[in-house]
Amino acid sequence: MGCFKFDLFIWVFSVLCLGLLCSGFVPADNYLIDCGSLANTTVGKCVFLADNLASKYLSSPKGVVANVSLKSITSFDDSPLYQTARIFPESSKYTFPISQSGRHWIRLYFYPFTFGSYDLSKAKFSVSAQNFALLTDFSVQNTSLKEFSVNVTSDSLVITFTPSSNSFAFLNAIEVVSVPDQLITDDASTVSEKFQGLTNQALETAWRVNMGGPRVSFENDTLWRTWVPDQSFLVNENLAQDFSNIAAVKYEAGLATADIAPQTVYGTLTEMNSANNPNSNFNVTWEFTVDPGFQYLVRFHFCDVVSKALNQLYFNVYVDSSNVAPDLDLSSVAFNKLAVPYYLDFVTASTVRNKLRISIGPSAENNAYPNAILNGLEIMKMNNSAGSLSGANSVSSSNPGSKSNVGVIVGASVGSFIAVALAGVLFVLCRRRKRLADQGHSKTWIPFSMNGTNSHTMGSKYSYGTTASAASNYSYRFPFGVVQEATSNFDESWVIGIGGFGKVYKGTLNDGTKVAVKRGNPRSQQGLAEFRTEIEMLSQFRHRHLVSLIGYCDDKNEMILIYEYMENGTLKGHLYGSGNPSLSWKQRLEVCIGSARGLHYLHTGYAKAVIHRDVKSANILLDENLMAKVADFGLSKTGPEIDQTHVSTAVKGSFGYLDPEYFRRQQLTEKSDVYSFGVVLFEVLCARPVIDPSLPREMVNLAEWAMKWQKKGQLEQIIDSTLAGKIRPDSLRKFAETAEKCLADYGVDRPSMGDVLWNLEYALQLQEAEIPGDTEENSTNMIGELSPQVNNLNNVDTSDSAAQFEVSSVDDLSGVSMSKVFSQLVKSEGR
Ligand SMILES: *[C@@H]1O[C@H](CO)[C@@H](O)[C@H](O)[C@H]1NC(C)=O
Ligand SMILES: *[C@@H]1O[C@H](CO)[C@@H](O)[C@H](O)[C@H]1NC(C)=O
Ligand SMILES: *[C@@H]1O[C@H](CO)[C@@H](O)[C@H](O)[C@H]1NC(C)=O
Ligand SMILES: *[C@@H]1O[C@H](CO)[C@@H](O)[C@H](O)[C@H]1NC(C)=O
Ligand SMILES: *[C@@H]1O[C@H](CO)[C@@H](O)[C@H](O)[C@H]1NC(C)=O
Ligand SMILES: *[C@@H]1O[C@H](CO)[C@@H](O)[C@H](O)[C@H]1NC(C)=O
Ligand SMILES: *[C@@H]1O[C@H](CO)[C@@H](O)[C@H](O)[C@H]1NC(C)=O
Repeated sequence: MGCFKFDLFIWVFSVLCLGLLCSGFVPADNYLIDCGSLANTTVGKCVFLADNLASKYLSSPKGVVANVSLKSITSFDDSPLYQTARIFPESSKYTFPISQSGRHWIRLYFYPFTFGSYDLSKAKFSVSAQNFALLTDFSVQNTSLKEFSVNVTSDSLVITFTPSSNSFAFLNAIEVVSVPDQLITDDASTVSEKFQGLTNQALETAWRVNMGGPRVSFENDTLWRTWVPDQSFLVNENLAQDFSNIAAVKYEAGLATADIAPQTVYGTLTEMNSANNPNSNFNVTWEFTVDPGFQYLVRFHFCDVVSKALNQLYFNVYVDSSNVAPDLDLSSVAFNKLAVPYYLDFVTASTVRNKLRISIGPSAENNAYPNAILNGLEIMKMNNSAGSLSGANSVSSSNPGSKSNVGVIVGASVGSFIAVALAGVLFVLCRRRKRLADQGHSKTWIPFSMNGTNSHTMGSKYSYGTTASAASNYSYRFPFGVVQEATSNFDESWVIGIGGFGKVYKGTLNDGTKVAVKRGNPRSQQGLAEFRTEIEMLSQFRHRHLVSLIGYCDDKNEMILIYEYMENGTLKGHLYGSGNPSLSWKQRLEVCIGSARGLHYLHTGYAKAVIHRDVKSANILLDENLMAKVADFGLSKTGPEIDQTHVSTAVKGSFGYLDPEYFRRQQLTEKSDVYSFGVVLFEVLCARPVIDPSLPREMVNLAEWAMKWQKKGQLEQIIDSTLAGKIRPDSLRKFAETAEKCLADYGVDRPSMGDVLWNLEYALQLQEAEIPGDTEENSTNMIGELSPQVNNLNNVDTSDSAAQFEVSSVDDLSGVSMSKVFSQLVKSEGR
């Protein structure tokens, strides 16, 4: 809203007494009209003119006046402005004299009530101003306040309402109000090497958010803007916390003013919830829905009311994946003062997705305590090159001043270019670095004793969800110091794998036991829940074919899991891509049988079935005797009971292994593991990645490709060439039939893990029956035509064949954890 008739005395008083540098902006142009209303309407301290008093601004045809009774309004904002409307069956326009050129707000109020034969929710129309299409074929189902701003350089502003064919337009209220010149500048605040010309842009406010604070209503904003709280935009609320010190805010001349954003916005913020962990390293991320195909002006509001001293806070600010303010040090940009409001403008490239992600995270460059803050955020849509702000196109043809009406279809066809480059505005930040003492490493280690009092069961520590009490004394809580010692303080050269969860190190306990130490990224997105699940699962389940958990460490917010060391790494590493000697058919069968036993035990060995959910060759580990053990229970769930009460059935798993039925219906059963295991069987047979984008289209997905050949009865055409001539046809047939059944479209048609196990054992017997060893051949058609797709994708040295756990790599989609990707797509409460 646009009323600025505040009391001058109060203003002077606050400047003098509170030391505020309030601009005291009084708009030169200030038109407020309550369309259709018979009387003036007062909102806050503002008076919206009765419709008849504003009719001089409306040229004929003036349309129809409509009203509705207040009680039928159910909107969030039962403002009387929504009670009446003006309906335009034909194109109509308002013309406002402009006394001072410059940017003006245009705020349009819509509420679709029914009046006589007019159902306003059926209205469809376009609105244009100057040469800009503000709305195109717009219709409205709910209360809606649209805020635009345009720079008006002529002495009048014409706003045209044009019904779409066979429809009509309407409007409940309108504001046309001058904007202070310094609010949106062409270059001053944006120091733009890359983007210039903001003053010529029409802008539409997409989002205006007060981080870490309350909704700020228009009455508490000098320019009558509304700021909404940020919680609902946070991707992970647990990673963020609020902070507030409104009284500390001190506006400084030359930086942000109270017109840029009010004190309540600058005095409250969202920061990292690092839970006193000096090793915290994660981003706080918000996600906003936007229209693809437009550039956006993103305005960040900062005010460091958190720091106790200068140069304590260094952080990064990201728009999507671009770091737009590396190592931002607010005390340096704000004249070496704290608590000074400051803002930063960025212009994005044309968006491709319908989401814009804003993240803040600690700077790695400084030894400062990890934190990052954001006080407020505005996201403003910029007109496209056709002068349009709306998804469709064309400027209303009834606007005589409009330029070409050629429609430009934007957005959808932008192609595969995903990265949102920033034509940004880069502030030169003078950075003063202050090295803070590294507090990360305590040298006081508690002596560790396997049976001693230092260990305690996790039943007490993690008391939610499935109970872990029964076997919990198998897993020990390790002091952090012991883990440090075992891994030579997490020596990078001891890393044997990297996965979504974090890094895996080789280690040796002081009694000589070799261990694999999996260290979660502190509070990684997947982190905590999976950490706990894994401890619970592995503490309950002891089986020869399940990897054993030796202990865990949760000191200092660490998430560390300590496993028995698996000398021979992953099954995947023995199939392709790592240079390990390839396994014989018999060895492969034994590995498959071993892992099938492990999964069978999971499905049946306990009162409730446990579904692994991430069965893949990278999660099958091999010990020194090549005995297979199933690993990585982070995603596991116990049967339906938990499923109904527990947080999420969001589709998780890995690309290429995912049960299509589970994906479609989000119904989790053991048969999803059976499907994934079937993919593993084909992987074992063909020795190629389950997804290989470098191959021709029909070959990319192993499951599809192998099924195609299996259905033709010619699977032998695509098997691992090193197996050619070494598999007995009977054994191959049994194996392939088993794999095929696992991949049945519907879970009910798939065998149980027990059946799979039995069939694999049978395949092994068929192999052993007549051809002892893997000497030679004679059986027909054993030549695999397809050479295995051997790509050495690993970015960690795995030559010692100790590549335990997944080594992730961009090209290797089979290793991409689906949880990140699809938890966004599939609503948490899956069913
Ligand atoms: C409505 O408001 C206008 C402008 O404030 C004023 O001039 C006019 O007298 C008011 N009319 C009524 C009926 O109150
Ligand atoms: C609605 O319109 C009718 C006639 O057009 C009028 O009598 C009535 O007072 C109006 N109500 C409101 C709330 O403006
Ligand atoms: C309309 O707004 C209300 C309140 O904000 C909301 O609950 C409702 O879902 C909205 N309806 C539609 C169709 O968007
Ligand atoms: C409006 O546009 C004119 C002409 O391009 C420019 O000189 C002026 O600075 C602009 N004003 C604002 C507030 O953007
Ligand atoms: C304005 O802010 C004050 C103090 O923060 C608060 O008490 C008041 O409720 C706010 N008014 C509105 C209309 O939000
Ligand atoms: C924060 O987000 C950016 C952009 O997506 C990313 O490059 C960076 O690695 C993230 N940092 C952390 C600690 O996750
Ligand atoms: C927005 O419209 C102005 C004026 O027509 C034009 O100069 C500018 O290039 C447009 N913006 C974009 C991003 O195309």
